[in-house]
Amino acid sequence: MCGIVGYIGNQNVIGVILEGLKRLEYRGYDSSGISFYCENDKKIEVIKKSGKIKDLVNEIDKRKLCKSHIGIAHTRWATHGEPTDINAHPHTDCTGNIALVHNGIIENYRTLKSFLLDKGHRFKSETDTEVLVHLIEHFYKNDLLEAVKKSLKMVEGTYGILLLSSYEPDTIIAARKGSPLIIGKADGQMIAASDASAIVSLTNQILYMQDNDIARIKKESIEIYNIELEKTSDSDFEQIDLTISQIEKGGYSHFMEKEIFEQPEALTNTFIGRIDFENGTFRLNGIKEKFKDLLNADRIIITACGTSWHSALIGKYLIEKYTNIPVEVDYASEFRYKNPIITEKTVVILVSQSGETADTLAALRESKNKGATTIGICNVVGSTIARETDCGIYTHVGPEIGVASTKAFTAQVLVFFMLSVALGRKKYLTFEDGIKFIKEIQSVPEKIKRILGSQNVFKSLDSIVETNYIKNNFLYLGRGINFPVALEGALKLKEISYIHAEGYPAAEMKHGPIALIDENMPVLFISLKDSIYDKIINNIKEIKARKGYVITIASEDDTEISKIVDKVIYIPKIIEDLSPLLSVIPLQLLAYKTAVKKGLDVDMPRNLAKSVTVE
Ligand code: F6R
Repeated sequence: MCGIVGYIGNQNVIGVILEGLKRLEYRGYDSSGISFYCENDKKIEVIKKSGKIKDLVNEIDKRKLCKSHIGIAHTRWATHGEPTDINAHPHTDCTGNIALVHNGIIENYRTLKSFLLDKGHRFKSETDTEVLVHLIEHFYKNDLLEAVKKSLKMVEGTYGILLLSSYEPDTIIAARKGSPLIIGKADGQMIAASDASAIVSLTNQILYMQDNDIARIKKESIEIYNIELEKTSDSDFEQIDLTISQIEKGGYSHFMEKEIFEQPEALTNTFIGRIDFENGTFRLNGIKEKFKDLLNADRIIITACGTSWHSALIGKYLIEKYTNIPVEVDYASEFRYKNPIITEKTVVILVSQSGETADTLAALRESKNKGATTIGICNVVGSTIARETDCGIYTHVGPEIGVASTKAFTAQVLVFFMLSVALGRKKYLTFEDGIKFIKEIQSVPEKIKRILGSQNVFKSLDSIVETNYIKNNFLYLGRGINFPVALEGALKLKEISYIHAEGYPAAEMKHGPIALIDENMPVLFISLKDSIYDKIINNIKEIKARKGYVITIASEDDTEISKIVDKVIYIPKIIEDLSPLLSVIPLQLLAYKTAVKKGLDVDMPRNLAKSVTVE
């Protein structure tokens, strides 16, 4: 949700911040802008443009640029005010001496704006952010840091900000509360950004800013203060493990495609170091200290948003099956607006690819307030949720850049499976059960490879896309552990191909949605040869009897199903509890291929952003 980047050092700033912006474009892409300090004219210059970053680059190319080694930049996902040139960041004060980029939301901006209008400030944009830069101007009395502190103390809401000023042209001021911000250090250069992808081409030395930190960043030094401007000792840089090749497309047309095809290798990384053959279980070192709390929990609550919420539903199914511990799944966005029943024996699991989702973070803080033990399942190492939970399990699938989540979902499901088995082994699963599960997990990458390498799968997908890409609606039906997969398939199609799609438990159709069925309604079933196969075949027949067009994901040894449906995609056999890892792959591909066929921007679907750091 908005990406920000700032640089100070020996290089020409424009190139560095534009490269950083391009890496952050997945976070928001409706407008963008840069601001830099012109050394000759001794003033701040701002260039901003609605549209994608390429539109900003075109605009920059038209200009004659001055020499500059310090600047800030922003790529926007609009919250307050439409994505116009004027509403794009950076925003400046009345004098043009201070420029600011912001990721987050200033909740009390109306009150602050009327206060500032009374003082004679003139506003140019409709954004919440602009109040902040005027507030800093209002408080500025020859000490920028002091003005930032006073302003931030008046702000309610969330922010990650970078500020540039001609008053102190060798300094960038950074501050964070609720929105991620990290700083990278290289020889004679500093770079600050919303996430590490904008930094790794320059350095792997990273410092994670904490909430309420304010940083004064110069070329060679950094000082970190708390909101009272007391220096904190916490300015340690650490080495991160991220390479440029991990954040590039590597020959694929889109990040989403790359991430779908990466899954065999990515999932191997999720489980490989965690297999414990000796004890027939999985070693989850990240949660070692809280493992007993989990085993003795009166209840587990799993909370998450979007795709991560779908994996949570599968987590509930697995944990309850292998441990008998009651599990509840909550939308993180709803969690703090009700009265979550939490005792000191409740464990709350927060699932988040990015580890920065605002609603999930708020649910985490609410859970901690109420005394729960908290466990994170995150992908981004060092992310806020990963750091603020008591402990956690990383999915370790590398950066996920495509806005539609793919490999993060399968990795989360895998983590839930390993967690359930590890807990179950302390309850009633036998050593033999554990070994069987380990072997099944080891077979997953090869089986996914078979789907991704199968000409038949791709032929079927192409013909399904050809017939259905013009459709306005789609239904995805599944039962048991594959019901959440139906939800996930529908979400993928909605978000990148803009086709309305609903996921539903197959047997619930009779209670209403079956009224939608006619020859124009494609219905996709996940109908594997599992414990409820016969039931789902009945559900398929109900649809066929009403002239529905039925596509099904079926087990490769199912020789009968092609006789009753219109299209079949076969996938390899696997135990039922791991089947979502295979059944979701054709659904990811179907959404991807439909979006490509429709000529849509797969990696940057309209109105979306990768990491939703606003409520
Ligand atoms: C869908 C998608 C979103 C995210 C959701 C939560 O493809 O990516 O629904 O799953 O915004 O994000 P994280 O997992 O980062 O908390």
